[in-house]
Amino acid sequence: MIRERVDLGSRSYWIEIGAGLLEKAGGMIARHGARTLVVTNRRVDRLHGQRLYGGLDKAGLRWEKVILPEGEEHKNMASVARAHDALVRGGYDRGCVVTGFGGGVVGDIAGFAAATYMRGVKVAQIPTTLLAQVDSSVGGKTGVNHPKGKNLIGSFHQPCVVVADISVLDTLPAAETLCGVAEVIKYGAIAPGGFFQFLEKNVERLCGLAPKTVASAVRTSCRIKADVVVSDEQESGRRAILNFGHTVGHAIETVTGYKQYRHGHAVAIGMSVAATLSEMKCGLPAKDAARIRRLIQRAGLPAQVPARIKTGALLKAMEHDKKAKAGRIRFVLLSSIGECGIVEDVTTSQITEAIEINRL
Ligand SMILES: NC(=O)c1ccc[n+]([C@@H]2O[C@H](COP(=O)([O-])OP(=O)(O)OC[C@H]3O[C@@H](n4cnc5c(N)ncnc54)[C@H](O)[C@@H]3O)[C@@H](O)[C@H]2O)c1
Ligand SMILES: [Zn+2]
Repeated sequence: MIRERVDLGSRSYWIEIGAGLLEKAGGMIARHGARTLVVTNRRVDRLHGQRLYGGLDKAGLRWEKVILPEGEEHKNMASVARAHDALVRGGYDRGCVVTGFGGGVVGDIAGFAAATYMRGVKVAQIPTTLLAQVDSSVGGKTGVNHPKGKNLIGSFHQPCVVVADISVLDTLPAAETLCGVAEVIKYGAIAPGGFFQFLEKNVERLCGLAPKTVASAVRTSCRIKADVVVSDEQESGRRAILNFGHTVGHAIETVTGYKQYRHGHAVAIGMSVAATLSEMKCGLPAKDAARIRRLIQRAGLPAQVPARIKTGALLKAMEHDKKAKAGRIRFVLLSSIGECGIVEDVTTSQITEAIEINRL
């Protein structure tokens, strides 16, 4: 078992990473409270619930579970209300722990329910997708979607512990694994320290879920994310570097109505476009932009913008996003692999050119 620390003063916590941790999670949660409400969904409950619940019993925790409907379309206030209702009905007090047991959808709902119940109770995150293990369970962003936009309702609420059992990933559909791999490649691109080279050596093993490779990749990803979060917890600046590839990625998701492209696939295309913009604006050597594209392709992720997605539509979506955030179109660009910054003076014609260069 390996662990990484997120150092945020009184809000510090451990991320526990390893195979077979579900059974031990009860003991880890019990350090933070005597009673827990597990928030999960039917699939995760059915596939992996027994291993977690046995450990909760063994640790002497009083616990119940709320099983939410599956899917991003249920990341809404109705699901948060289901968790709140269970907490109120059960008479949970301020000393309780809410346990988010599932992918990013469940984790974001559980975190927000915990952040708002009695003005805030603890949340333990037990992420069960690769994306949740390397990204959403760490850093304290919680929330739900509004009919008018994704993640519009939410708050920052750090977990008290994160338990990433990599053995649960064995049941994950390959397409979901790939979404996590895209975020892992993102960390490789933005962080110094040789993680990109590690991925160049091991990307096939990572996609094939070789345990040692996965444990190592989850650990390094969490370390990178934790360091960024510690430097800028509430995203007033630097934390935005975690959005490498996401400017165009989000635009692709928007123009395709969040139906045709999974987040990781859209981000992979977005990283290719960002690599080209990095060449144009920040002096990223062409051979390093090519290495990024090559790694994306070796993972089985798309690195090119499909012909049916029009440049004009993408630009419009980025402009809209910019207005919603009352700012500029922001890109995270690289000067080399592992060195990045936030760039706000990218022109429409540069974006257009970069998209066209990355056409299928
Ligand atoms: N809070 C953050 O910082 C942050 C960061 C990134 C993403 N997110 C959010 O995370 C969400 C995406 O998370 P996700 O990719 O984990 O999606 P998800 O939670 O929808 O999970 C994907 C699918 O896998 C299933 N599943 C989960 N664990 C499984 C397992 N072990 N075996 C088999 N199936 C399993 C789920 O039921 C679901 O159908 C989005 O809502 C996004 O906004 C949040
Ligand atoms: Zn992402």
